[in-house]
Amino acid sequence: MIRIGDICIGDGAFLGPMAGVSDLTFRILCAEQGAACTAMEMISAKAVCFNNPKTWDLMRTDPAEGPVSLQLFGHEPEAFAEACARIKERGIPFTFLDINMGCPVPKVVNNGDGSALMRSPELIEKIVRAARNSTDKPVTVKLRRGIGGSENAVECALAAEEGGASAVTVHARTREQLYSGKADWEVIARVAEAVSVPVIGNGDVTDGESAARMLSECGCAAVMTARAAQGNPWVFREIRTYLKEGKKTERPRQPEIIRMMLRHAAMLCEEKGELTAMRQMRSHAAWYLAGFPGAASLRARITQIRTYREMEDLVKKEFPYALRNLPGKQPGGGTGED
Ligand SMILES: Cc1cc2nc3c(=O)[nH]c(=O)nc-3n(C[C@H](O)[C@H](O)[C@H](O)COP(=O)(O)O)c2cc1C
Repeated sequence: MIRIGDICIGDGAFLGPMAGVSDLTFRILCAEQGAACTAMEMISAKAVCFNNPKTWDLMRTDPAEGPVSLQLFGHEPEAFAEACARIKERGIPFTFLDINMGCPVPKVVNNGDGSALMRSPELIEKIVRAARNSTDKPVTVKLRRGIGGSENAVECALAAEEGGASAVTVHARTREQLYSGKADWEVIARVAEAVSVPVIGNGDVTDGESAARMLSECGCAAVMTARAAQGNPWVFREIRTYLKEGKKTERPRQPEIIRMMLRHAAMLCEEKGELTAMRQMRSHAAWYLAGFPGAASLRARITQIRTYREMEDLVKKEFPYALRNLPGKQPGGGTGED
């Protein structure tokens, strides 16, 4: 169990926020499989201030997903204060507010947002304080190892704590590493040693064994996994079982994977309308089917799919055994419109 401010979050791994991936449907599926906490896609503090309707859509939550963080990015303390106030006013249900200090994308960094905040620990302190003063939820930050040759995660974490952060997540890669190269877990241990709030370690947690190793090597309070959950929400079940019983779990067999993929598609159609959902399902389907015999040609065919029915037909043809006993589920609310 981990305490973030006045909130207790149960055992298991956290799902990392992923723009374009960790939407409501994906979060529900990960929570069902045992994610201790899920995370919304990053949201621009400025866009909240501008009252952008698409931005409010990103904040849809469902009680089925359990604890969920809402992540804001930006660089102006006033924008964070106003965004937090507006979110509070709307009564958006979420568990804690996270501030993005790790996004490496040039468009974001060149605007002074994401990991660019790590260039100024003073600004970090101001932003966290501004958010703290405008929300009644705990505030956390998500950092990287460093940016531009400066490996100052400890300094930034201390600044966040000074501003009132209730927990710090450390993605153990530098901004320059983006998402490749090995995560250097040592930085997680250094931050955990330096701050008195809980630290959530992140980077290269892919299964139960790596989760247990990060916890013991880094002394962090919890672990977060992101890419390992793509096409594999079962990773949370695997991590939970390993941490509790020290037992390895097999990845599900093909029929269960196929059924999860179809259910994912049906739920996404309900959430976003069939056209958008099936476009977004292309990457999810490629992740689910990775490692299947003929995955490359399947992937190519999946990129052509535009409706749920087409996906079901393809699956029926390729994996007839997977659909036996399937309760004929169809997306109910999909209208085919965005
Ligand atoms: C497609 C994608 C989108 C991401 N979007 C966000 C985001 O919106 N906010 C954030 O803090 N991190 C984001 N991340 C970073 C992840 O949360 C995580 O820190 C990173 O992938 C390292 O963890 P992993 O090795 O378990 O994947 C994103 C990563 C990926 C691959």
